[in-house]
Amino acid sequence: KSNTVAKTLGGKKYFGSATDNPELNDTAYVATLSDNTLFGQITPGNSMKWDATEPSRGVFTFAAGDAVAALAKKNGQLLRGHNCVWYNQLASWVTAGNFNASTLTSILQTHCGTVVSHYAGQMKDSWDVVNEPFNDDGTVRSFVFSDALGLTSYVTTALVAARAADPAAKLYINDYNIDSAGAKATAMINLVTSLKAAGTPIDGVGIQGHLIVGEVPSKAALIANYEAFTALGIEIAITELDIRMTLPETPALLAQQQTDYNTVISACKAVAGCVGVTIWDYTDKYSWIPGVFTGQGAALPWDDNLIRKPAYDGIIAGFTN
Ligand code: G3I
Repeated sequence: KSNTVAKTLGGKKYFGSATDNPELNDTAYVATLSDNTLFGQITPGNSMKWDATEPSRGVFTFAAGDAVAALAKKNGQLLRGHNCVWYNQLASWVTAGNFNASTLTSILQTHCGTVVSHYAGQMKDSWDVVNEPFNDDGTVRSFVFSDALGLTSYVTTALVAARAADPAAKLYINDYNIDSAGAKATAMINLVTSLKAAGTPIDGVGIQGHLIVGEVPSKAALIANYEAFTALGIEIAITELDIRMTLPETPALLAQQQTDYNTVISACKAVAGCVGVTIWDYTDKYSWIPGVFTGQGAALPWDDNLIRKPAYDGIIAGFTN
């Protein structure tokens, strides 16, 4: 049975996967990842982040990111940039103690401008310019740039630099726990509203979608929230979908996971401004979940042996039904 997600969709929405450089030595893994009738898009999981691209001030290293970009090109897949500025995996030299506010602004401009410019023309999709700006209660996440410059200033600096560096790339702000209405989604809506009012370039909100089996919001709640974002005059994408469970896997949990993947995909399908869905890698073999959430995992639609799980059928049904 051939399942051609991209063909089925007629190019209207993409389905994609994150990947990471160490995995690119795994031949069987790469073969499935490179099936562009299945995955129409890829995102580098780590190799375009600040610690990877500017480990020392003014010293840029693009080899690992370039390897993912080259794979996307070879496969005819869209490429999503991830990310320009984030509190995590920031290079250790970027500290408030070392620089004043105006220098930090310049450091941010140079970083986003240089990295986005490096991939200009190759980034046929979008950039997660700003990653995870909010805490779960909707307050501004504290880190060097928000502390020194304030939310609006650092976000604007990053977006303006990214637009100048690659006018063709769609520019996103990306966060988790903004799947359905709540304080964090409201904070994101308020931020986008103020950026739009100021004429700051912003094209989309990335809804990461790190979810839990059996705890996924209803399709109606997802759609209502997705539409609250697209009503602002932006697009949305589901950028990092995975749906984890407490191990061990059971048939009941796998069946619920199939339902949950179907719910998210079909909600995106129902909203015109939801441009696509990316899973945060496709196989449990390379999922970040077990390393961070003890006792949890099995969050992806392919198992540790690269065998499709019921979740895969939930995804296909979500895109096609
Ligand atoms: O590069 C070092 C390597 O030198 C060292 O030997 C190894 C030992 O642990 O660690 C390697 O760094 C790891 C890095 O991934 C690269 O593999 C870090 O420990 C590990 O913490 C890091 O995890 C990444 C995580 O972001 C960091 O927060 C995950 O792979 C990546 O999938 C994950 O992705 C994030 C998104 O960017 C943003 N949204 C949440 C999502 C999940 O956390």
